[in-house]
Amino acid sequence: MGNMHTEISYAPIAGIATQLLAVLAADTQTAKGPDAKPQLTLLTADPAVQAAAAGVLGTGEYKAGANETVLLHAPAGIAAKRLLIVGLGKLTKATVHSVRDAAGTAVRFAKPRGIREVVLALPSSEGLRGAAAVRAAVEGAFVGDFDADTYRSDRKDQSIQTFTLAVAGTDADGADRAGVEAAFAEGRMIGESQNFARSLVNEPGNKLTPTILGQRAAMMAQEVGLGWEVDSTEKLHELKMGAFWSVSQGSAEPPALIVLRYEPEGVTDGPVLHPANEDPSVGTPVLGLVGKGITFDTGGISIKPADNMEKMKYDMAGGAAMIGAMRAVALLKPKVRVIAIICAAENMPSGTAQKPGDVQTAMSGKTIEIINTDAEGRLVLADGLTYARQLGATHLIDAATLTGAISVALGKITAGAFSNDDAAYSKFESALAISGEKFWRLPLGDAYADLIKSDIGDIKNTGGRWGGAIIAAEFLHVFAEDTPWIHLDIAGTAWVEDSRPFIAKGPSGIGVRSILEWVRSYE
Ligand code: BES
Ligand code: MN
Ligand code: ZN
Repeated sequence: MGNMHTEISYAPIAGIATQLLAVLAADTQTAKGPDAKPQLTLLTADPAVQAAAAGVLGTGEYKAGANETVLLHAPAGIAAKRLLIVGLGKLTKATVHSVRDAAGTAVRFAKPRGIREVVLALPSSEGLRGAAAVRAAVEGAFVGDFDADTYRSDRKDQSIQTFTLAVAGTDADGADRAGVEAAFAEGRMIGESQNFARSLVNEPGNKLTPTILGQRAAMMAQEVGLGWEVDSTEKLHELKMGAFWSVSQGSAEPPALIVLRYEPEGVTDGPVLHPANEDPSVGTPVLGLVGKGITFDTGGISIKPADNMEKMKYDMAGGAAMIGAMRAVALLKPKVRVIAIICAAENMPSGTAQKPGDVQTAMSGKTIEIINTDAEGRLVLADGLTYARQLGATHLIDAATLTGAISVALGKITAGAFSNDDAAYSKFESALAISGEKFWRLPLGDAYADLIKSDIGDIKNTGGRWGGAIIAAEFLHVFAEDTPWIHLDIAGTAWVEDSRPFIAKGPSGIGVRSILEWVRSYE
């Protein structure tokens, strides 16, 4: 992972001597109909930069579509060696989320061309020039800077050295410099945390075993001042985590039960809700983050086909999202207690692996009939959720690459969300408005829960072909019980299949920003 340096500049952009100055442009045509040609507006108040760009903007060959770029070399009248224009699309539809993507596009334009510094001019237009845009732009620069090339000798270390956000002539250049600089610092902490999660997800199964994931989480916790414990087999037995253990039993790699604790001063001595399923509206909240950390999912005895099985190294993306979110929580210091539990294991077929038909007793005491050993994520999460509640969590959120069915429902664009609590979910929706991540809520329901009733035990781990993502969510619901809970199924979105202008193919880091904002909403 790169180590991009970031700066804010208040200098007029025409005078900034740099390898690359990026300025945003949008289509400001408001007329409709076949004759309404795009009307391009460069989103800067700087007259010298306006003049330098006027020629190309007048040709019609560039339309300022979202993340569309055009490059000018040795632009006249300005100090930058190159002027890159990045499109936002229609200005009326542009948001700070478009600014995030545009910043990523500028960085990703520079990277393969050997350009090591990027100055981005914050747009001058209303709604895109304040603190939220500053934060989004810095996040986007970090998102764009990441490539999954750690193991490519020909490409590593192509990171941008310095990213500068130029704010002259925007709201950010006004009275509230402290607020803007705080937003800038936030963007950096969040962008780096998202990239930290992505770097974990990118690691192959042989380099990132459950034990090593535990070590990485502990190292991070040490650095940012989180409490942590990493335990293994013995602790799983002690806690009677029969569901979690059953997934790990076929592997030579021991499981890791990773616990990260964030206990801000002055909040810890409020009334603790214990056991957790008391009225959550009373007392101070304790947020429980639970992540699926399957470092490799072969399917186990219900083994997966060979095609694309290599992708199953990213089956710990939910756990990585929680680790990344906790890093950001530790740095941003909201006044709310948070505990994260990552259930890490390798799902392998072997002489010691669990078998279809086996019955496992979960930590909660519920018995589970194993129908398909490939439905392992819900097993580790079942015990993770129970443990979070036992540790005092009043509100739960989990993230998991749980089902292929979520991609059938929502494609690779939008992640799935489920909740048993409208109040908790509405906070999550507000978090999405800030994070810009795309989640869509799907239903739960008793009629789905009926499909996982077992003749042999209390429940079974699969429920037939239709509505697989909802059935998986209902399985988790059995263990969340009535504690307010949100389940995020990121199986379709944790890995970007094709590069986009603002993000490389590879791990997306989905969830980190939204989970962080959800946590902050409980401050
Ligand atoms: N890790 C997979 C889900 C997955 C699929 C993640 C594709 C990313 C991309 C999960 O453990 C799994 O195997 N789910 C099964 C459940 C089924 C056996 C009920 C699935 O979705 O096929
Ligand atoms: Mn599986
Ligand atoms: Zn899995």
